[in-house]
Amino acid sequence: MATNYYTGIRSVILSTGSYLPNKVLTNKDLEAMVDTTDEWIFQRSGIRERCIAGDDETTGNMAIAAAKKALEAAGLTGSDIDGVIVATTTPDRTFPAVAVKVQAALDIPVGIAFDVQAVCTGFVYAMSVADNFIRLGQAKRVLVIGAEKMSSILNWEDRGTCVLFGDGAGAIIMEADESGDGSIADRGIHSTHLYANGQQRDLLYTDGGPSTTGKAGCIVMQGREVFKYAVQYMADVVEEALEENNITSADVDWLVPHQANIRIIEATAKKLGLSMDKVIVTVEKHGNTSAASIPLALDEAVQDGRIKKSDLLLIEGMGGGLTWGSALVRF
Ligand code: UT7
Repeated sequence: MATNYYTGIRSVILSTGSYLPNKVLTNKDLEAMVDTTDEWIFQRSGIRERCIAGDDETTGNMAIAAAKKALEAAGLTGSDIDGVIVATTTPDRTFPAVAVKVQAALDIPVGIAFDVQAVCTGFVYAMSVADNFIRLGQAKRVLVIGAEKMSSILNWEDRGTCVLFGDGAGAIIMEADESGDGSIADRGIHSTHLYANGQQRDLLYTDGGPSTTGKAGCIVMQGREVFKYAVQYMADVVEEALEENNITSADVDWLVPHQANIRIIEATAKKLGLSMDKVIVTVEKHGNTSAASIPLALDEAVQDGRIKKSDLLLIEGMGGGLTWGSALVRF
């Protein structure tokens, strides 16, 4: 599904923020836990270490911490926000949504607040949903968060999955902006493309849930199959974003991909003809933080000065469902 028509309003990203737990689990640490090696993990995935949340670092608490940073960066308070959307697969409770916890903690007034579940593509879905609210005039400023405690749904005896994931949260504030002229020079979101193929839902899933086992369950993945589709879908969805906006990859300042595997990221960059120094990569330090990975990468590159105001960003993600999608954004 594509969204790229101009209503006179664009959703501009005002600011970013993030939170990572202090505890770092290295590949060396994992060598003592399962039959694996630092060399295998790094060569196959590009991961060296990941952050692991403590008991108090729930998805909701990490989301709140990231959101506070984004508010501070924009010079705003909770009262300036009229919507909260949290992308997560690992909510504090089955219900209510993590978004209402964030809303309450930050004194955000009564308005929309809900979670989006599209696994690793969740943040792209959440951005797209927020963009639609904003472009249709239903919201002015939306807090969009990707937050995950993936460590809580890992089988720590399955070396095929437990070495890949990490915890954390990232947030952005999206604001309605009517100053553009409808051209690609406008700041804000220019297009989003979202997809899901439910026929592929058994390639990556948890072996539990409220209405089946009554427990959250653990991640089960057919890694090689998911890898194959990830490379194909990412290549297709970024090409589609460029075509739809009548631009080429030379116009893109930064590729901000979901951080699952460096080999998938490199394949997408290669397909686009983009050198890796135009790609934001955090997978080495964060592992795969599912819906949190894109806003974490975005915030890191904003904080260190790589991503600047008016840079053109091509954002893409892919995950369980299978789901995948992209967003083209002038920052
Ligand atoms: O974010 C959502 C989307 N998720 C992804 O995009 C993940 C996509 N998949 C991948 O990133 C990769 O498939 C993995 C990193 C998960 C695995 O890499 P691979 O090159 O596809 O390896 P493989 O699954 O084909 O496994 C190769 C071998 C197997 O042994 P045999 O059957 O060849 O004897 C595995 O049992 O590596 C073995 N293996 C391990 N060895 C050491 C699997 N996990 C480990 C491990 N340490 N942790």
